[in-house]
Amino acid sequence: NEIKIFSPATVANVSCGFDVLGFCLDSVGDNMVIRKSGKKGIHITKIEGFDLPYETVSNVAGVSALAMYDKLDVDFGFEIEIYKNIKPGSGIGSSAASAVGSVFGMNELLGRPFNRTQLTQFAIKGEALASKCEHADNLAPAIFGGFTLVKSISPLEILNIPSPNNLYATIIHPQIEIKTSEARAILPNEIPLSKAITQWANFGSLIHALHTNDYELIGNSLNDVVVEPYRSKLIPHFDDVKTEAIKAGALGAGISGSGPSIFSLSKGLVNAMNVKEAIKNVYSKTEITFDIHVSKI
Ligand code: HSE
Repeated sequence: NEIKIFSPATVANVSCGFDVLGFCLDSVGDNMVIRKSGKKGIHITKIEGFDLPYETVSNVAGVSALAMYDKLDVDFGFEIEIYKNIKPGSGIGSSAASAVGSVFGMNELLGRPFNRTQLTQFAIKGEALASKCEHADNLAPAIFGGFTLVKSISPLEILNIPSPNNLYATIIHPQIEIKTSEARAILPNEIPLSKAITQWANFGSLIHALHTNDYELIGNSLNDVVVEPYRSKLIPHFDDVKTEAIKAGALGAGISGSGPSIFSLSKGLVNAMNVKEAIKNVYSKTEITFDIHVSKI
């Protein structure tokens, strides 16, 4: 009658795939307990780690749980305990992990009546509460694992994208907060055709590289001429981190989601660890504190 789950952090956008591409991290995430309860409805009974609202309709995990609960005809309810490790506003899918965890856990307790796409659909409601817009590029990798491509939001269509066996991510999270809604507000509504061409060439190449295990092409495709020029200004020392990561052997680097976290991809754990040391040095010289993680994808 109860399930403990690990709800992973995720990296959205992956440079050229704004709002559609994402991947899942195995080393960072929230823990949650979902429990059937005699009391109808959805009740958040415990939150540890960060100060988040207990009121179901104001809590991301609560809102996605309610979206699923509304589709059920049951005489019991669910309790949710959230042990949050992913700091809100860190750019590694904190709200997505909460939104996904509740619906994933409830679905397991119910005997899996819903498929993964349906779970993502419920979780979108929770994500929208946090970021003020419906996007699924963090939710899909948290539910499906690995790399995912959100082909369409309405109707929701998600593709699993394979990735090479030896691909690792190094993620640095400088401890400043960037609200996704604010990082979206600074983006232009229109982009010049020449930039769009560069972006979709890179995006197509990245997807091809992931299918063909072409590490070099992964690196060459990790460019973002649409979003990064605007958002990188919000992240202190972004250019230095990117330069040092690539010097230390990363295939490429970019902003994780809406920032401030910065991700880099490397071939092999040794390179990913070298990148970790190199980018640590950038922030160690400043006042900014940071977390850093290495994850196999
Ligand atoms: N694709 C979203 C954005 C992800 O970049 O605004 C937010 O985590």
